[in-house]
Amino acid sequence: MDLSELTLDREGLAAAIACEDAAFEAALREEAYRVKLAAVGPEVYLRGLIEVSNICAKNCLYCGIRRDIRCQRYELSQEEVLATAQVAADLRFGSVVIQGGERSDKAFIRKITRLVRAIKSIDTGDDPPLGITLSLGEQSRDVYEEWFDAGAHRYLLRIESSNPDLYRRIHPDNHSYDRRLQALYHLKEIGYQAGTGAMIGLPFQTAEDMADDLLFYKRFDAPMIGMGPYNPHPDTPLTLSAAPYPSTVRRFALGLKMIALLRLLMPDINIAAATALEVLDPHGREKGLLSGANVIMPNITPREQMVKYNLYDRKTLNASDVEDLKEAGIVIGYGRWGDSRHFGHGRS
Ligand code: 5AD
Ligand code: SF4
Repeated sequence: MDLSELTLDREGLAAAIACEDAAFEAALREEAYRVKLAAVGPEVYLRGLIEVSNICAKNCLYCGIRRDIRCQRYELSQEEVLATAQVAADLRFGSVVIQGGERSDKAFIRKITRLVRAIKSIDTGDDPPLGITLSLGEQSRDVYEEWFDAGAHRYLLRIESSNPDLYRRIHPDNHSYDRRLQALYHLKEIGYQAGTGAMIGLPFQTAEDMADDLLFYKRFDAPMIGMGPYNPHPDTPLTLSAAPYPSTVRRFALGLKMIALLRLLMPDINIAAATALEVLDPHGREKGLLSGANVIMPNITPREQMVKYNLYDRKTLNASDVEDLKEAGIVIGYGRWGDSRHFGHGRS
């Protein structure tokens, strides 16, 4: 396939996703990088990722911290989270992501509300207060509203797959695609920048499914997307079912290609170079940025807990990786929220 033949409709996207020609894939990534520079500029925004707890009420069939997996559980204390957010402020990251397993007990909800307020009052010197993204799963509209009122302004909730049938195959019966979608619309109505995303290279997933994921992001008009390759975790039902999935090399190439295609489809949104890319290639994140991504989320969770937040087999990442990016000539947007231009707040 030649780049000049690419069309951004379902058929064209699926053909591009299915095409394994290395020259085509490289040309596509280069084109996406050019489009990114023209639409959002060279700057990369940082989000300090804090994994507050690996306790989860859900049981997703692919996830290494699913409810039924035996692993050591942890929950950071209020003080630990705040100290970690202070690290993000001191490093001038501009924003933090508070990520954790899904829980809807009152104590947890209130704790997050208090945390968001406290993070908002962290001293950031001459920079604006830290931007806060939450990634804490499906919650009721009221809870989303409570956290928004406390000061969170972005929320990440992946659709995981936009195909309801595939969603059903990778989740237990009591999980619901419709509920997930409803939650995404609630977030949007409340005024969050609602980010979503899907896994790439899942068992049973077709090129058309992946094309539909991209078109779903466009239809939802998402200001930010975080998607990444599926990485099998050895003790999960999806891995144990022995359902086939693409090779490591293919999943990595697909991960980059999806970023590139999305950049062409939605030139001015924020696209994260997901941690899952790094697991498949030591330079995964840089390659993600060179394929059209403009956000990275260095993990600043205290190391002792970070190793327990084991969604899939991965090496641990940390803030010092950011220095490597600078050496690679990547421009870092220090001390800025880095909101998506697409959202139209005009903030920086
Ligand atoms: N491989 C890749 N991504 C995964 N996630 C969970 N398990 C895996 C896995 N095995 C992703 C999900 C979730 C996010 C927090 O991590 O997409 O939304
Ligand atoms: Fe819980 Fe998220 Fe893992 Fe599902 S993917 S089990 S909701 S942490």
